[in-house]
Amino acid sequence: MTTEPSQNLAFGVDVGGTGVKGGIVDLSTGALVGERFKLLTPSPATPDAVAATVAGVVDHFEWDGPVGVTYPGVITDGVVRTAANVDEAWIGTDVAAAFGAHLGGRKVTALNDADAAGLAEQRFGAGHEHGGVVVLLTFGTGIGSAVIHNGLLLPNTEFGHLEVDGKEAEHRAAASVRERKEWSWKRWTKEVTKVLVAVENAVWPDLIIVGGGVSRKADKWVPLLENRTPVVAAVLENTAGIVGAAMAAAGKGTS
Ligand code: BGC
Repeated sequence: MTTEPSQNLAFGVDVGGTGVKGGIVDLSTGALVGERFKLLTPSPATPDAVAATVAGVVDHFEWDGPVGVTYPGVITDGVVRTAANVDEAWIGTDVAAAFGAHLGGRKVTALNDADAAGLAEQRFGAGHEHGGVVVLLTFGTGIGSAVIHNGLLLPNTEFGHLEVDGKEAEHRAAASVRERKEWSWKRWTKEVTKVLVAVENAVWPDLIIVGGGVSRKADKWVPLLENRTPVVAAVLENTAGIVGAAMAAAGKGTS
């Protein structure tokens, strides 16, 4: 399918630890137009190898327009600044230059993975057009965060690296910690509560959205949380990163 970029269509790619997933997004509904296409994340996941894989996903759709891409770390001025759970070779990478080389000069906008998911969930998902301050936290290998105020993203908040009771939040309560320690939902949720309390004391959100794979099991742990802000589970799971990346490529929710 050859698809021309139009006012309402944009392209997003979500770069994850195991898969690089992309698709064409209708920005008026947040739905994917057609399929979601996935290629395996290369190993080692160096910038050049990942960029080639992203290009493979984009080419699959014969997409000619700008491309939004997620990355699991801090990006400022288009340059990668951190690599907590990925190859350190990423630090200092100019994403537009590295990806542009494989994407034939298409404009590339890169943003943090949790920021992308937050934009998508606030606009189209669990926080559907929720006003005020919405915080999204993703629980996976690490903890990612997004802060959205009245639809506009405050990028690179990195709450996963907040020190909570003498320990980094993501070392205390990431989903990977629960798996490694073989904790019950109840035991793990105690740690998640501590992280949520630290976050809500810092930014006083109106709503907290919890995402990552564990949001599919939300009924097992969200009711056990003891923090004060209302918490809802993310709903876009498979597509949040793609949709948020596409929004960023189109300049929606970012400044
Ligand atoms: C990174 C964040 C990222 C999160 C989830 C953290 O370790 O610092 O930038 O959003 O993991 O991938």
